Amino acid sequence: MLFNNSQRERIKELETPFYYYDLNLLEETLEQAKRAADKRGFHVHYALKANFNDRLLSVIQSKGFGADCVSGNEVQKAIDMGFAADMITFAGVGKSDKEIILSLQRGIFAFNVESIQEMEVINELAGKLGVIASVSLRINPNIDANTHHYITTGLDENKFGVPTSELESAASVIRQAQHVELVGLHFHVGSQITDMNVFKSLCVKVNEWKNWFEERGTQIKVLNVGGGLGVDYQQPDENPIPDFEAYFDIFDRFLERSAHQEVHFELGRALVAQSGSLITKVLYTKSGIKKHFLVVDAGMTELMRPALYQAYHKIEGVDTDEEPTVQYDVVGPICESSDCFGKEVPLPKSKRGDLIAIRTAGAYGEVMASRYNLRDEVRYVYSDVLNLSPSL
Ligand code: LLP
Repeated sequence: MLFNNSQRERIKELETPFYYYDLNLLEETLEQAKRAADKRGFHVHYALKANFNDRLLSVIQSKGFGADCVSGNEVQKAIDMGFAADMITFAGVGKSDKEIILSLQRGIFAFNVESIQEMEVINELAGKLGVIASVSLRINPNIDANTHHYITTGLDENKFGVPTSELESAASVIRQAQHVELVGLHFHVGSQITDMNVFKSLCVKVNEWKNWFEERGTQIKVLNVGGGLGVDYQQPDENPIPDFEAYFDIFDRFLERSAHQEVHFELGRALVAQSGSLITKVLYTKSGIKKHFLVVDAGMTELMRPALYQAYHKIEGVDTDEEPTVQYDVVGPICESSDCFGKEVPLPKSKRGDLIAIRTAGAYGEVMASRYNLRDEVRYVYSDVLNLSPSL
């Protein structure tokens, strides 16, 4: 259960729908991740794309994480939020000239370069500005991340990274590029990965390609293994914090690295997902011929994951301790049949005005919201603003 009795009373007074962020859980999650990484000398860049809410970012920055960005605006946001430029990386297959120039001017740590042509453009723009661009080469290692096909990124058929068949030419372009310095190799094979064997296979590929470069006389300072650690969407209360120890331990054991080599990670979801819930109110209940429906005031406009990826989010009543007795399809107000948060969700018998929590919505929730149907801007509430104690 997300809230105790007095918290429930206060929540009832608030205008719905809103994202509720548990800052205590966020801090605890960040601290556990940082401890497990620091112990092994690993560096973690937080992937802003998972959630760039100001309040969350300032907590993440204060805990000593770097920033992994995928647009010029994210780079600028990270800088505005106090992330040191030399702890910012910039990834993405389609960096525009404007975004590259901004990042060169800000002096970010590295570009994660996704194609040979991009390497040439960065070299040219850095030359014009009279600077040297630090780059990591993103290699597509052809690994199946065993996750939803929309969020797998490291297969030959995916658009990401340089295919291994082109590495010879990439290496020669880098050697000739006067305004580019290769600092690292970059990999990212997908998101919401819960099978640790995927990361083990990734280590094997990283070792292989690192050796390939070193055999050709190119020293690699940074091994960036991306993000992708999954969270428990089924049981957020039982597993509110991912097992960072087990995750980092895989890389500690299976990644070959020499003393001068740094290992970088780009975690998004694992750091923020469980700290966020979408709180929504039942507008109407109705029973069709085959179904019972709860029509709630949040829709795919606030949380798009179920409509977009058929993603599962646990749905529970906020202001009740009763046992589930009815199976409801929980649907939003948007004029699309895909605007459904869950089918046949067991819930206590509900009525107009009841509050519902859609859990594990802190990552890829608020940031993917839209104004479709001219909906309101997304609202959010932080645990400390309400003086609420943590849900743990
Ligand atoms: N690094 C790169 C290069 C990425 O593409 C991503 C995520 C990350 C790091 C962070 O991955 P994470 O640790 O959060 O798994 N909207 C989808 C997820 C898309 C992930 C895109 N890339 C969802 O709602 O599940």
